[in-house]
Amino acid sequence: MKSFFYHPYWYFKTRFLGQKKPLQTVLFITNECNLECKHCIIYEKENIISKSYAQIREELQYSFDLGSRFVDFEGGEPLLWRENEKNINDLIALAHEIGFFTTTVTTNAQLPIVDLKANSIWISMDGIGELHDAIRGKGAFEKLEKNISDSNHPNMHTNMVVNKINYQGIKEAVEWVEAHPKLKSIAINLHTPFPGTEQLMLTPEQRLQVLDDVIQLKKRGAPIMNSVSGLKYMKGEITDKYCFVSNFVQIDGTRTAECSGKIFNLCDSCGFCMSGEMKAVMNLKPDTIIAGLKLRNKKK
Ligand SMILES: C[S@@+](CC[C@H](N)C(=O)[O-])C[C@H]1O[C@@H](n2cnc3c(N)ncnc32)[C@H](O)[C@@H]1O
Repeated sequence: MKSFFYHPYWYFKTRFLGQKKPLQTVLFITNECNLECKHCIIYEKENIISKSYAQIREELQYSFDLGSRFVDFEGGEPLLWRENEKNINDLIALAHEIGFFTTTVTTNAQLPIVDLKANSIWISMDGIGELHDAIRGKGAFEKLEKNISDSNHPNMHTNMVVNKINYQGIKEAVEWVEAHPKLKSIAINLHTPFPGTEQLMLTPEQRLQVLDDVIQLKKRGAPIMNSVSGLKYMKGEITDKYCFVSNFVQIDGTRTAECSGKIFNLCDSCGFCMSGEMKAVMNLKPDTIIAGLKLRNKKK
């Protein structure tokens, strides 16, 4: 069934028939990373796991059979994934062969983003210059800037995770993206306090202020991926009610119907924007539905 018809079909079954099946998959392919970000607990420097092509094929097929049609390749750093001659583009081709409509890759942009076949690329950028480097390591922003400029990919977006270090740099980051000829949008997520990173979490007051500021930026037309409805939901109580929209295949191969935030019992302090966006979709908020459909549009 084509993408155009699949969305209403999936929505009808979910909203009115009580089906709880994923529409999208987050698939972790390696925990190897070329950065050591302060807010992240996934990367490994010693106990490196890089899944085999065969394992990833099985995990993609499993997710597709559940009903998922969109996949995001995650890590670690997904651009580091290799098996003999194969690289991330072979995984993207495999996903399409299985039947996924679109593929995305989330990357730290420390390696060239040239001839990457994903439909869209999400580049993690946690502020401009020193703010980004304060979280991701010295020199990371300079490399990111160069690799974005040198990239030939037509559909690149950024993802900022707001925490105690960078929360005062949101406006600057949004304006940088807005002025950049190669970037389409910025998604704003808030820090989720995975074990060992609790000190980076915003206070409740800071959280509300940040969300209000982002809503104002969005209302004046800034290229923010989050919808106003989704941002407003993030100001209220966070529940995992609709998080089944994404299924996760973790780095150890565990298959979960929810993100690792739920596994760590962090739904009350969740900062992932998808929690708000999913709630807004399920409540038929037009701004969120339009934003979601635009994102899923195949650009490549
Ligand atoms: C784990 S990274 C892996 C992909 C790639 N290496 C990168 O940096 O984009 C995927 C995304 O998760 C985000 N992330 C990591 N820890 C987080 C946390 N505690 N709360 C919210 N987002 C987090 C990162 O900022 C990044 O955008």
